[in-house]
Amino acid sequence: MNIAIDGPVGSGKSSIADLVAAKLGILHLDTGAMYRAYALHVLRSGADLTDGEAIARAGESADVRVQYADGAQKTMLGEEDVTGLIRTGEVSLAASAVSKWPAVRRRMVAAQRELAKTADMLIDGRDIGTNVLPDAPVKIFLTATAEERARRRYVQQMEKGDNTPYETVLAELNQRDRQDMSRETDPLRQAEDAVLLDTTNMTIDEVVAAIVGIVEDVYGKQ
Ligand code: DC
Repeated sequence: MNIAIDGPVGSGKSSIADLVAAKLGILHLDTGAMYRAYALHVLRSGADLTDGEAIARAGESADVRVQYADGAQKTMLGEEDVTGLIRTGEVSLAASAVSKWPAVRRRMVAAQRELAKTADMLIDGRDIGTNVLPDAPVKIFLTATAEERARRRYVQQMEKGDNTPYETVLAELNQRDRQDMSRETDPLRQAEDAVLLDTTNMTIDEVVAAIVGIVEDVYGKQ
């Protein structure tokens, strides 16, 4: 079983994907975490984030791996578990910056296709339905207005003790949207055969139920 979920920053992909995967009893592969781990490695090397060749060179030694412990994804750089280190604003922007380079994407996409073969998986990202798994039987494109996505991110960060102002969160989100949608290689866009879910006025439970319904229409009741 392969379920592809794509969408912009703050569309709720990660949390919704976790809930849907748990309901269906399958694994959730968060591909953004792989770009984040790669970006952390590049940041540590001090490479210039606007220089594609420097990024590719620094990234050659990036050993990005994904493991599962009790069904939860652990994102690794070699033997180091970086799951807890890749959610900062700095790594978010760096991940968006490095992910525009074709050499980086080639490596990540190849690793994601291999992982997708190993188990029933729900995979979330930006280019899963369009590029990583163009034949996935279920494709969902999640979105919401930029203001609503920024509001969700702002509340989430406040709960974690991060007091970044709403205006800054919205500006960073708009910057990442622009970068993710305008890059030449595999930009964020809805696959023609993806189901569009605008979650602006939906609760998490409603979104989860809608996706499970779509999966059951394709694969039957799980
Ligand atoms: O989903 P996320 O915010 O954790 O992703 C971090 C960055 O990685 C995002 O700004 C764009 C990039 N990304 C990508 O280019 N392709 C994917 N399949 C997943 C993420």
